[in-house]
Amino acid sequence: MKNILVTGGTGYIGSHTVVELLNLDYNVVIIDNLSNSKMMVLDRIEKITGKRPKFYKGDIRNREDLSKIFKENQIDCVINFAGLKAVGESVRMPLEYYENNIYGAVVLLEEMKKNNVFNFIFSSSATVYGDPASVPVDETFPTGGTTNPYGTTKLFIERILMDLAHAEPKFNICILRYFNPIGAHPSGLMGEDPNGIPNNLAPYITQVMVGKREKLNIFGNDYDTPDGTCIRDYIHVCDLAYGHVCAIKKLDENPGVVIYNLGTGKGSSVFDILHAFEKAYGKPIPYAIAERRAGDVTANYTKVEKAEKEIGFKAKYDINDMARDAWNWQKNNPNGYEEK
Ligand code: NAD
Ligand code: WQD
Repeated sequence: MKNILVTGGTGYIGSHTVVELLNLDYNVVIIDNLSNSKMMVLDRIEKITGKRPKFYKGDIRNREDLSKIFKENQIDCVINFAGLKAVGESVRMPLEYYENNIYGAVVLLEEMKKNNVFNFIFSSSATVYGDPASVPVDETFPTGGTTNPYGTTKLFIERILMDLAHAEPKFNICILRYFNPIGAHPSGLMGEDPNGIPNNLAPYITQVMVGKREKLNIFGNDYDTPDGTCIRDYIHVCDLAYGHVCAIKKLDENPGVVIYNLGTGKGSSVFDILHAFEKAYGKPIPYAIAERRAGDVTANYTKVEKAEKEIGFKAKYDINDMARDAWNWQKNNPNGYEEK
């Protein structure tokens, strides 16, 4: 079976992908600097799958860390989740974001090349479409117009990958543009564990449900949408995890560089999400209408045809499943991965 190096593998999406890979008998090696995740994730992965992935505490910007891994393991494919991802923080600390995300990706690719590893999967984001002219978006829509340095790192790395695939035909690269991953592993053992006040909708709602926050602030109800709140394409993190397996298989065809949007194809408003969580909770969740948040686009959801046709990817969970699993995780782990 193939050996997959998962950078950022103890993070939110990485950990769910590692579980999916182990369940399908891939061998997994993780590198993570633990800047935004905890060692305990490895115990949870083992509890769910019965297997413990090989773990290296290290940094993708550190050539020695990487070359040690490539020397000690015959890696077939790298999935690069490692990166900083907080939009607001990226506005305050742009250099840290460009250095960690872009320089990190470049060093990783250079070390792959040195060690004859040419299969690469990249965690990109729907944010590269900026404010799309219409929805649903497909992969041919223009990219650009990102509204924060985080999004711009994704845009620049995509560009670097396209130039690399052009210059070095040995590289096979799959760019996955995630829409809005939420939810958690159905076991309740793994989920999203943000530091501090959550920036994103779903973890904020679950923290209200568990009593850590007073109420949800809905950022604007005067958008040009049916209920006035913004529309996004929320995708269950386990569906997203499976998308990476589809991508690994695609790389066997030596496709050069390929790009897929990963979403459900269904747009949901903030109120739709709130109601899905209320259904899981069995009671109302307190909220207030607040000012619009700078940088938010009115609507962004994807067409699913390309991913379905070319890599056989189809999301199977809906927003009620996402809410149920996210709530199950938060309820069982009110403080995330912290020791109680
Ligand atoms: P996360 O923060 O939970 O996971 C990222 C992991 O990478 C963390 O465990 C962190 O410790 C590690 N890391 C960061 N910099 C590193 C470095 N230089 N070397 C080694 N490890 C490093 O984030 P996530 O939500 O799991 O996101 C994974 C990837 O997917 C990120 O690249 C993110 O930008 C991208 N993405 C996420 C979303 C989302 O909404 N969560 C949407 C689109 C794209
Ligand atoms: C969703 C909706 C908010 C919080 C961001 C990044 C994107 C990608 C995914 C990482 C919006 C509303 C939110 C709250 C609210 N990230 N909201 N109250 O903005 O679509 O995407 O995360 O890679 O790059 O930009 O997701 O979860 O922050 O917001 O009303 O407390 O919920 O206004 O309409 P977003 P989100």
